[in-house]
Amino acid sequence: MNTPLRIDVTLGQHSYPLHIGPGLLKHTALWRSYLRGVHVLLVSDTNVAPLYAQRLYAGLDGLSWSELTLPAGEPSKTLANVRQVYEALSALGANRDACVIALGGGVIGDLSGFAAASWMRGIDFLPLPTTLLAMVDASVGGKTGVNLPAGKNLVGAFHQPRGVVIDTDTLATLPEREYLAGLAEVVKYGAIFAADFMDWLAIHSHALQERDPQVLAETIARSCRYKAAIVAQDPTEQGQRALLNFGHSFAHALETTTGYGHLLHGEAVAIGMLQAARLSTRLGWARIEDEQQLGKLLAALHLPLEPPPGLNAETLLQHMRLDKKNQGGHLRLILWHGVGQAEMVTDVAETDILAILG
Ligand SMILES: NC(=O)c1ccc[n+]([C@@H]2O[C@H](COP(=O)([O-])OP(=O)(O)OC[C@H]3O[C@@H](n4cnc5c(N)ncnc54)[C@H](O)[C@@H]3O)[C@@H](O)[C@H]2O)c1
Repeated sequence: MNTPLRIDVTLGQHSYPLHIGPGLLKHTALWRSYLRGVHVLLVSDTNVAPLYAQRLYAGLDGLSWSELTLPAGEPSKTLANVRQVYEALSALGANRDACVIALGGGVIGDLSGFAAASWMRGIDFLPLPTTLLAMVDASVGGKTGVNLPAGKNLVGAFHQPRGVVIDTDTLATLPEREYLAGLAEVVKYGAIFAADFMDWLAIHSHALQERDPQVLAETIARSCRYKAAIVAQDPTEQGQRALLNFGHSFAHALETTTGYGHLLHGEAVAIGMLQAARLSTRLGWARIEDEQQLGKLLAALHLPLEPPPGLNAETLLQHMRLDKKNQGGHLRLILWHGVGQAEMVTDVAETDILAILG
């Protein structure tokens, strides 16, 4: 086995390691070293559990453990399922040294993390992410939570994991659209603060399409390092961390207008980043070559570049006005001065935004 890559994430007083490499689910000694007590609850979903849960069983030998498998998909990210986690922990007799292991994508990670944050006011949490999105985004920052009928991620808590173990082998079975949507978030790191990473991704775009294990491990490691750096500077999300929302105001408006589920979040982010770049060009902030470079990379990674036809610009803008990240009645957007140089702005004229949406 290749030596796994290791990144240390530091957030305030808390620090935890991230391990990245092939075969890590079977590397029992590695992930078991994060378990402090004897009680373990393994939470997964109906797609992932049949594929990967059994790789963990040998490592759980001798512990008091059980398994909870929830239906796959975003509709599972509910308080009702958090309650199921509590009930499973209760049936186990789990006390404060128990650990919740989350084997799955961002849905399983967010909801299990929230259950771990709140059970007995906080127990250990060990994510084993299996989607590219959960690996490069959710594994750094400690955000956990669930959706309410009133909106996404309305209930949650910051709860840092004990460690994160990323087995890149699991990406082999990830559906193509989910995989590509994860790559959009990877491109975002380059777009907002690492021009050299954008170049690196362009050089490796074919290997990324082929899911080359070494290129993937390097891509995940670099992405996590960028996110860890930005989150460390701004753990409570007051300033710098907002840059991670590059393309997201446009993306949320698109997702709401087209109806959730039509576009994957990463697909909407790809389109949204390009719209943010176009707006930056229009305002004279950036050169058209930067926008073209982004478009070329997204196209090489087979990501969508344009919104579905027939959307109404005024409706999209209306949704952007409702974005919870706006400040004092002003639209808050992340634009750029070119590849790798994002900035937050609150004073863009709506006529300019409409011109991009139209
Ligand atoms: N906490 C954070 O910082 C953070 C960051 C980004 C996103 N999120 C959240 O993450 C969620 C989206 O995460 P996601 O895109 O991973 O979705 P997901 O967890 O629903 O996974 C996507 C689909 O892929 C399947 N799947 C997962 N791994 C697989 C594998 N290896 N092989 C085959 N199928 C597999 C799942 O069963 C599901 O059907 C959203 O709820 C979002 O709010 C959280």
